[in-house]
Amino acid sequence: MDFNKVCVLGMGYIGLPTASTLAMQGMEVVGVDANARVVRILRDGEIHIHEPGLRTLAQAAFNSGRLTIKDEPEEADAFILAVQTPLRENHQADMAYVVSAAESIVPFLRSGNLVVLESTSPPRTTMDLLAPILEQSGLTTGEDYYLAYTPERVLPGQILKELIDNARVIGGYDRSSAEAGRDLYLSFVRGEIYLTDATTAEMVKLMENTARDISIAVANEFSRLAEHFGLSVWEAIELANLHPRVNILRPGPGVGGHCISIDPYFLIQAAPEMTGLMQRARTVNDGQPAFVVARIERDLQGLSDRRIAALGLAYKADVDDLRNSPAVEVARLLASKGAKVATFEPFALEAVPEGCVPAGSLEDAVKDADAVALLVDHRQFRELDPQALASQMPGREAFDTRGVWSSSVWEQGGFRLHTLGVRAPDA
Ligand SMILES: NC(=O)c1ccc[n+]([C@@H]2O[C@H](COP(=O)([O-])OP(=O)(O)OC[C@H]3O[C@@H](n4cnc5c(N)ncnc54)[C@H](O)[C@@H]3O)[C@@H](O)[C@H]2O)c1
Repeated sequence: MDFNKVCVLGMGYIGLPTASTLAMQGMEVVGVDANARVVRILRDGEIHIHEPGLRTLAQAAFNSGRLTIKDEPEEADAFILAVQTPLRENHQADMAYVVSAAESIVPFLRSGNLVVLESTSPPRTTMDLLAPILEQSGLTTGEDYYLAYTPERVLPGQILKELIDNARVIGGYDRSSAEAGRDLYLSFVRGEIYLTDATTAEMVKLMENTARDISIAVANEFSRLAEHFGLSVWEAIELANLHPRVNILRPGPGVGGHCISIDPYFLIQAAPEMTGLMQRARTVNDGQPAFVVARIERDLQGLSDRRIAALGLAYKADVDDLRNSPAVEVARLLASKGAKVATFEPFALEAVPEGCVPAGSLEDAVKDADAVALLVDHRQFRELDPQALASQMPGREAFDTRGVWSSSVWEQGGFRLHTLGVRAPDA
């Protein structure tokens, strides 16, 4: 199939790179967003999210005249839905954005069109939720128009590269829909494209992230055991991973973001009685911020009025994304226990966890601090020079929740370094 015009719904971390990439491949692309602020910023030629290289790519797409931004869809050869699928408070998937995006294209759907859902979704969403909405157009799925699901598996921070290079799974409502999806993605994907059915493709994404969540949960439990038995979890993991069939992940202050901490619930909600291990992993990972805070409280012999500089709030290194971030939860919990917490998140200076004070710079964050706590291993924090830091802050306690600071270097710098998964210096 040939596609000349594509309408991408949702101009977020996934939709904007996808729309820009398609435009740079020569397609006419309409980028649609329901958020007036997003539409305004993009129409001004700016971007509203941080992703390396995205500003340059999006601006090239705008300047080519092939990417235009609208607040509602219009007729096209293909529609890509890349809207958010968050979790509700009750841990049920909130599919309202997918539903409204699908409903918004019904008036514009024509015979021969392709619709692709990219949003991470519970199994059977394409077949049981999306197809019935789109059939309100009077068209029959698989006969009059094609419907496919393709999961996004890009890594924030490397989205532009992975969008093109990663292998892609495309699941069709039927075989011809999968093939139509392949024809669209072949226009920019260099990785292998594997065709399957829509529900398998939905499941693939959820299985990947759920397996990762469980692997991180076991690493987090190892960190607790290492402190209990008085050893370094980092050394033990490094040695265990020398085995050719072992690959233990790194522990940390918890699991966040919009994928790994959410996607397992899409399976848990669908079959609670079959997902005991997944539920337990979620509990372990969600409990890790409290474990980290208890450790800091113990090592500082109390938190009341202790001045702590919390470094990083993003859910992982070198991104600006704070969604479900365990670092935010650690900062909030420290403050709720009476600590005076100054946070410094270089990628989101205005972010303020409840009870904390945001600092505009590292110097500002540490200037009165008794202790510094690394919550996110942003490159700038990994490379911190403890000797320089010692001249900027009164305290000499340092906490590393990511296992990236060297104890000998920090001790030479005059600090007492407390590392997650390593017994406290004189415990
Ligand atoms: N961000 C990632 O790295 C990543 C990776 C893999 C999968 N995903 C999945 O991809 C999907 C999109 O994620 P994201 O991070 O790009 O989300 P996002 O929140 O950054 O962007 C979604 C955009 O969709 C817009 N939107 C909502 N309803 C709309 C509608 N009816 N019409 C038009 N626009 C609408 C929102 O205003 C928002 O700008 C989610 O399901 C997510 O789980 C994301």
